[in-house]
Formats: sequence, C-alpha cells, structure tokens
Amino acid sequence: MQTIHDIATLRRTLGEARRAGQRIGLAPTMGNLHRGHLALVAEARRRADLVVASIFVNPLQFGPDEDFASYPRTLDADRAALEDAGCDILFAPAAEAIYPRGTGASSTVHVPDVSEGLCGARRPGHFDGVSTVVSMLFNLVQPDLACFGEKDYQQLAVIRRMVADLHFPVEIVGVPIVRAEDGLALSSRNGYLSAEQRARAPRLQAVLAATREALAGGEAPDAALREGLVRLTEAGFKPDYLELRRADDLGPVTDVTREAVLLAAAHLGPARLIDNLPVTLP
Ligand code: PAJ
Repeated sequence: MQTIHDIATLRRTLGEARRAGQRIGLAPTMGNLHRGHLALVAEARRRADLVVASIFVNPLQFGPDEDFASYPRTLDADRAALEDAGCDILFAPAAEAIYPRGTGASSTVHVPDVSEGLCGARRPGHFDGVSTVVSMLFNLVQPDLACFGEKDYQQLAVIRRMVADLHFPVEIVGVPIVRAEDGLALSSRNGYLSAEQRARAPRLQAVLAATREALAGGEAPDAALREGLVRLTEAGFKPDYLELRRADDLGPVTDVTREAVLLAAAHLGPARLIDNLPVTLP
C-alpha cells in the first residue's frame, strides 16, 4: 500500500491508473478505523481494481463545541489495518492541503432539504462540511465508485442527493451497518464511553428494535416514537431525536409510505451516538 499526503502525487498516481483502464474505488474516512470502515474498503475491493481510502479529520464538519481537537488520530494502526484489508492507496492530506485559504474562506457545497432535519438540525453546518469535503475528494480522486456506511444514514442520503444534483460521475455504494456482538453500531466515538456506559450503549439499538416491533404491530407512529424516547431517557441517554422517515429521501412518512427508516441520535455521557433501522410499514 502506498501512503500519499500531497495532492500532486495523488493526481499523478491516479492519472496513470486511470489511463491504464483501472476502475477506482474510494472509501472516505476520518480514521481511527474499525470493522465498519474496513467493510467499506472490502466492498470497494470487490468492485474496483484500485482501492483508495482517505483519512482526513475534516475541520469544516465539526461545530465550535464539538470534538475536533480530541477526535482520535491513530494513523499508524490505521495504515496497518488498511494494508491488511487490501487497500492500494491511503490518501492522508494535511488540512493546509485541503483548505489552503483556511476553512472560513473556501467555497462550500450546500445540499438542501435532506441535510436539514435530524442531525442537520442539531449540528448546524455539519452536512455542508461533509458535502464540501466529499466533493473535494471526488474531484481529487475521481473515483468510479465510492462507498459510504448506512450507519450515517442521513450523510449517505446527502451524498446521493449531491451526486445527483451536481452530476458527479460517481456510483455511490451504501454498505450495511457493522455492529458489535451486543448490537452496538461500531463507531470511533464509542471509545469515549466508560465501561459502564459502553455496557448500556446497546440499548439505543434495542429501543429502535422495540419501536420497529410496535410499528409492525400496528401502533401509531407518534405513540411508538414517544414511547421510544421515554425508554431512551430511562436507559440514561439524552436523546436528540427519534424519528421515522421515508427510506429513500428522508421525507415525511405519509399514508402511502411502506419503506421507512427509524433514526435516532442520543448523548450517552461524553459520546453522541447515532443509529438507524429500516422498517417496512404495515
Ligand atoms: P467516519 O465517521 O470516519 O466514517 C467513514 C465512513 O465509515 C462513513 O461512510 C461511515 O458511515 C462508515 N461507517 C462508520 N461506522 C460504520 C459502521 N459501524 N458500519 C458501517 N459503516 C460505518 O463519515 C465520516 O467519517 C465523514 O463524515 C466523511 C464521509 C469521511 C467526510 O469527512
């Protein structure tokens, strides 16, 4: 595996691969890699000739009171994990390479509607930061396909909309959530939890599953969601939201919606956890 830090080398190396007819797959990450990230690399490996993973803790997508400074940076371990996963190129740029004018003075990409509720409402500017950096990565790597996890369901929907709106010639591949044995969705932020909080964290997924059962049993969404929020609070979470949305575009569920998704975000001690579960409505 080749590690590349600068844009000129990246462009030159990928230009040669592209001219040789290689299909390029990209897995964008912020590092501190776990099995969830590596599932993206494995999916890209299956679909592409040349696999590029990026590691960049993107300052533009963190709010002023969020964990940008303390976000775990573990480049040596990440490089070893990517090597084992069959990644060909690691692109790990410095912030000055991506934002030479600083984050405040750069052009940005805003994706309306789908970025606005849910996490978008609680993290102002977050999805602008994500769509901006992902569009930069698409321009730098020019991948044929890019893999994103369904764990960040709204992020995946934002990227799909951006690619459609701006006509990026990139196939977006969604990868199912990778979970720990007890059901907790793997996340770099799980490392912020104490042992006691870590033991409680799978309740988030359990509440989503119980809410899905209630909906499948014909309970009205409003009542099922209210109950779920109470359960989360009783389990020691401070919920940001628990919502039921249309699966494809995260619009409101109506009488004709069948394919929906339950989405939740909740604080547990120092960590903000998110999770989601698909629901087929009766
Ligand atoms: P990060 O949180 O590092 O996640 C990188 C990718 O890994 C995302 O597509 C995310 O959905 C996926 N992922 C994380 N945990 C997962 C799990 N348990 N199962 C499956 N996929 C999982 O998301 C970001 O970084 C950034 O916003 C980024 C897209 C890189 C832009 O900066």
